[in-house]
Amino acid sequence: MKSKALWSILAAGICFALTAQAAQAAGDEVEGKKKFFTCGGCHAIEGYANAYPNYHVPRIGGQQQAAVLAALKSYKTGDRIHGDQPLNNSMQGNASGWTDRDLEDIAAYVSKRTLSTEANAISGHPDKAKEKSALCAGCHGVDGNVLDKDGKALNQDALRLAGQYEDYLIKALKDYKKGVVRKNPIMVGIAGSLSDEDIKDISAYFASQKGLTTISE
Ligand code: HEC
Ligand code: HEC
Repeated sequence: MKSKALWSILAAGICFALTAQAAQAAGDEVEGKKKFFTCGGCHAIEGYANAYPNYHVPRIGGQQQAAVLAALKSYKTGDRIHGDQPLNNSMQGNASGWTDRDLEDIAAYVSKRTLSTEANAISGHPDKAKEKSALCAGCHGVDGNVLDKDGKALNQDALRLAGQYEDYLIKALKDYKKGVVRKNPIMVGIAGSLSDEDIKDISAYFASQKGLTTISE
């Protein structure tokens, strides 16, 4: 990708982040815990994997509140499709049937986690990702925890990548690269500039950082 095009994507992302910052997500954590019961069968089991296609169900404990809400709303409207095709879309089923208020409560519950201090197991080469992952730092933070160097929140929309399962990150980046089931224009542009090798190394790098947890209570 030409660097000029990439810069306009980055600038668009920054403006987007600033406007979204103003609209802070509400939500009742206690109510959210009750509503989460239908989700735990997949999201509260460490190492649980999804069949067809086979990859880990993402860790969402400590995920950014506004980003969780945005993900749930886009599954609900069908804008983000889980799996490879609309027929295999169980997150749409999971996110439907809830009001926006319910989803806000769930997002509040999910995001209030103490981050993990244990690094995740990986199979790729994080050391090769140094240069490429610098491209992600402005939004996701150097280690994928969406914090700047002083530990302040960088933006509300970027998902936390630190401690996420490696195979899930690979799947997500490939989905953005294809642009069919994941359509966020910022990430479609960025993933399009990465080779399959870059995707593996970067995913190994972020997966090996400490951060997201499996929800256990
Ligand atoms: C049958 C298993 C299953 C159940 C039940 C389930 N999920 Fe999911 N969830 C998944 C899978 C698999 C993905 C990854 C989908 C994809 O690739 O987009 C996912 C993705 C997500 C994401 C996006 C995370 C990210 O990093 O982008 C959120 C948020 C989420 N689920 C929340 C929930 C909530 C809240 C519930 C309950 C209302 C729920 N899930 C129920 C399997 C499940
Ligand atoms: C301009 C800001 C910006 C930059 C730079 C950026 N991202 Fe993102 N990223 C986002 C936003 C916003 C989302 C949420 C998009 C959505 O809703 O699908 C996201 C989502 C993701 C996801 C999905 C995570 C999940 O749990 O579903 C991955 C993986 C990801 N980014 C990886 C990267 C990598 C790797 C780089 C660098 C090569 C990068 N991003 C650079 C803003 C950015």
